Amino acid sequence: MYVAIMGYGTIGSGVAEILETNKAEIAAAAGQEVVLKYVLDLREFPGSPIEDRLIHDFKMIEEDPEVGMVVETMGGLNPAYPFVKACLLAGKHVATSNKALVAAHGTELLAIAREKQVNFLFEASVGGGIPVIRTLYRSMSGEKIRGITGILNGTTNYILTRMSEAGSSFEAALKEAQNLGYAERNPEADVEGYDTCRKIAILTAMVSGKEVSYEEIHTEGITKITDIDFQYAKKMGTCVKLFGSSRIGEDSVQAWVAPVMIGPGHPLYAVRDVYNGILITSNMLGQTMLYGSGAGKLPTGGAVVADIIEAVQNPHSTIPFGWSAERETVADFSLSSHQYFVRIAGNYSDHEEKVAAAFGNVQVMELDGMDEFAVLTGSMTEEEYQKKAGRFEVRQMIRAEL
Ligand code: HSE
Repeated sequence: MYVAIMGYGTIGSGVAEILETNKAEIAAAAGQEVVLKYVLDLREFPGSPIEDRLIHDFKMIEEDPEVGMVVETMGGLNPAYPFVKACLLAGKHVATSNKALVAAHGTELLAIAREKQVNFLFEASVGGGIPVIRTLYRSMSGEKIRGITGILNGTTNYILTRMSEAGSSFEAALKEAQNLGYAERNPEADVEGYDTCRKIAILTAMVSGKEVSYEEIHTEGITKITDIDFQYAKKMGTCVKLFGSSRIGEDSVQAWVAPVMIGPGHPLYAVRDVYNGILITSNMLGQTMLYGSGAGKLPTGGAVVADIIEAVQNPHSTIPFGWSAERETVADFSLSSHQYFVRIAGNYSDHEEKVAAAFGNVQVMELDGMDEFAVLTGSMTEEEYQKKAGRFEVRQMIRAEL
């Protein structure tokens, strides 16, 4: 099958490299040779291995009947969305790594793929190289999936790991992640949790079979996490991770993105650096954890290549995949229950009774020389927490699973 790549950035160039390096393995798995015919990009790449296939006009792909499969690794919505839609309408399979595209237009693009009997696949859009989407729709398709909790963003996991283990500043760690090619074009999408939000929306929709609107998912990033939080975490033997989480109920789902304090007993504790980890809870299998490279050229490119192989294996049919246009109900975040790590201004001895009256039995932590203390509460809803916390001068609140 002839393939075209749209976008020769980090991931697109990774796909081209893998198609060349693993040519024999890919042909054996797909049952035929996979040949890269075009690479679409606005830029020139003199001396690069794809120079002879570089084009600047999308129409060449859209109108070439020989191209059966298109890879979209441009990122963003424009022109990724109109290009992908046009490819599907032209009866071409599409594989994308673009979570923004899948989260915003996945429902429509999946419907077009079904109508045209092609495949719209997006393994690389969540968890980089980790085969989480395929695990959900193939290996776990006979399970009732109850919940998914993941460290789904490599950039923020890298930053939090560097802050925790090397005492790096937020800015220095972000720069390193950007230099390593992990970060989104706009790093705000990573550090504000938007990238994780889209990824948990996609995973939740895959599991529930219904469209999940990412705008309805409560989303907090890591920009308010400070070195003082890490001083407490060190003392407590804990760490802070950015979680995307969803619980799948019969009539609704509970989904959110927020930093969470966890201890060594949590399966995701050991997920460090740029790595991602995804914990899936299902009714027969119990807990399953996937771990691997959540970003980067070759890991993410590899996930796209796996989608190419899947489409080549199913050239004339749409595999059962994705979700319908029915909208899933995302439950109100204020009703979700958590434990809370809370830093409060003042001396604990002056607040002891007030703390007990508000939160009951709590674990108390103090750092030398600080005019504040911290408590670890029991579990309560967000609504309850907000009411109770209103009685104190709260400097920080991080949800906890300890
Ligand atoms: N910016 C993303 C991350 C890339 O850091 O995880 C992979 O989606």
